[in-house]
Formats: sequence, C-alpha cells, structure tokens
Amino acid sequence: MSRMAGKVAFITGAGNGMGRSHAVRLAEEGADVVAVDLPSAAADLDETRRLVVELGRRAVVAHADVRDPAALRAAVDAGVAELGPLDVVVANAGVCDNPGPAWTIDDEIWHRSLDVNLTGVWNTATAAVPAMRDGGGSVVIVSSTAGIKAVAGAAHYSASKTAVVGLARTLANELGPEFIRVNVLHPGAVGTRMTLNPETMARLRPDLENPSRDDVVPVLAANHVLPVPWLDARDVSNALLFLASDESRYMTGTQLVVDAGLTQKV
Ligand SMILES: NC(=O)c1ccc[n+]([C@@H]2O[C@H](COP(=O)([O-])OP(=O)(O)OC[C@H]3O[C@@H](n4cnc5c(N)ncnc54)[C@H](O)[C@@H]3O)[C@@H](O)[C@H]2O)c1
Repeated sequence: MSRMAGKVAFITGAGNGMGRSHAVRLAEEGADVVAVDLPSAAADLDETRRLVVELGRRAVVAHADVRDPAALRAAVDAGVAELGPLDVVVANAGVCDNPGPAWTIDDEIWHRSLDVNLTGVWNTATAAVPAMRDGGGSVVIVSSTAGIKAVAGAAHYSASKTAVVGLARTLANELGPEFIRVNVLHPGAVGTRMTLNPETMARLRPDLENPSRDDVVPVLAANHVLPVPWLDARDVSNALLFLASDESRYMTGTQLVVDAGLTQKV
C-alpha cells in the first residue's frame, strides 16, 4: 500500500473514466494528487477529490482545458504550492469522436482531436515538467491501441494517438539526463463513457435501434484474444501505477499495452 508514498502526481482528465481511476489507484498507494479537468467537469473533479481524500491523501483540483497552456501552468502552480514538486505527470485527457472515413472528417473534429490529444499532451508536459522534483520522476503519456494499429473511421484519433508516441520518445531522450522517464500507455477498449456511450454503441450495433451494453458485448469481445468485451479502468490504472512507480525506474521511451490482446488478435 505504499508504492507511491510521499509522491505527488499531476493527472489531466482526472474528473472521469481512467483519469479518476488513476488518481484513486495512485492515492491508494500513498500519492497526493493534482487532478485537472475541464471547467465543465467541476462536479466530476469534486468527486475525484472526495475519493482521494477518503483514502487519507491530499488532493488539489484545478479546472483547465489542456488546449490552454496558461490554464495548465496555473494548475501546476496551484498543485505545487499546496503539495510540493511533482513526481509523476499523467497526460491522460483525450477525446474520441467517430465521424467516419478520413475524407469525410469535418475540419473542426480533426483539429479538436489533434489539439486535445496531441497538442494537449505537449502542453501538459511543457507546463508540468519544469515543476518536477530534482532527482527525477515519471511522465506517462496515454495513447491507445489506435496508436498502434489502424482504426477504421477514426483517422483523426489514430493520427493523434500515434503522434504522441513520437513525442514521448523525444521527451524521453531530452529528459533522461535528469532521470525523468517518459513512457506510453496504450489501453485497449475500456468500459468508460468514451466507449460505452449511446453513439459508439449504435455504431457497433447498426442492426439495433438503441443497443445496450449487453448488445455490444459480442462485438467487442470478438476483437480480443482474451474472451472479455472491455477492460475496467482499474486494469489500466494498475499498469499506470507500475510506470509511475520506481519499480519501472530503468524503463523509459517504452510502450506498455493493456488491451486483452486486441493488437495481437489474428
Ligand atoms: N475508453 C477507451 O476505450 C480508451 C481506449 C484507449 C485509450 N483511451 C484514452 O484514455 C484516456 C482517458 O479516456 P477515458 O476512457 O477515461 O475517457 P472519458 O471520456 O471517460 O474521460 C476523459 C476525461 O478527459 C476530460 N477531458 C476531455 N477533453 C479535455 C480537455 N480539453 N482538457 C482537459 N480535460 C479534458 C473529460 O472531461 C473527461 O473527464 C484518453 O486519452 C483516451 O483517448 C481510452
């Protein structure tokens, strides 16, 4: 229960889904948390704070859009003022719309995807890395299996999630001399609202009027080597915990895949 004792973690997109799960998992192991999300997610962030505090850890919440560098810097400053220098930075905030074939993607959706999923990660690193503790730390960039293999109908998402791998490799080289490690986490299908929302479920089951979770189980399970339809956020948080902790102290520039075998399925 103390793999993160005395550490401070800065997490974007921490109001919901995997971001919240990462905050809770790191707090369970002793970390204090700076939880960042959109101003519109204030109530979600309050719940994340409640969960972290319930575990006996400290939490600072900050409202910032990862597309806004000044807001991210303010979030970092607020976190450091209360909790001290950062040990872990998790660039997790992301968006995924599924508009169809690449040539039909609307300009606005393309740019939103690249702005949040790629530039937002760069903004997060730029704001947070200078506030990391002397002596090193861990940056984890959340990509996706869409950063490894093609996803039909999501060229914008796949492009952004592939691009962050290049960003991570470069950052790993630039920050290695400071003992700051930078690794990529590739989740597969996870049972958050990004996957289990009415629009995505309707796309997965075009034959049904209002498909339920149960209706998409066979479609999603068919993508996997292991016979499960999706992962729980906590399954991904356990891998994140490893990359964030000193247990992975000589791992940098690498990619960790948690996908029930999605990328290996024949
Ligand atoms: N759910 C999946 O199946 C899946 C699979 C692979 C990768 N991912 C990636 O994992 C990460 C987390 O996904 P999730 O499933 O928890 O999604 P989610 O939609 O449940 O949560 C995403 C969080 O990010 C926040 N966010 C969105 N845009 C933001 C912005 N501009 N600035 C700050 N915060 C913002 C949202 O408010 C939300 O709280 C994302 O990067 C996503 O692309 C998800």
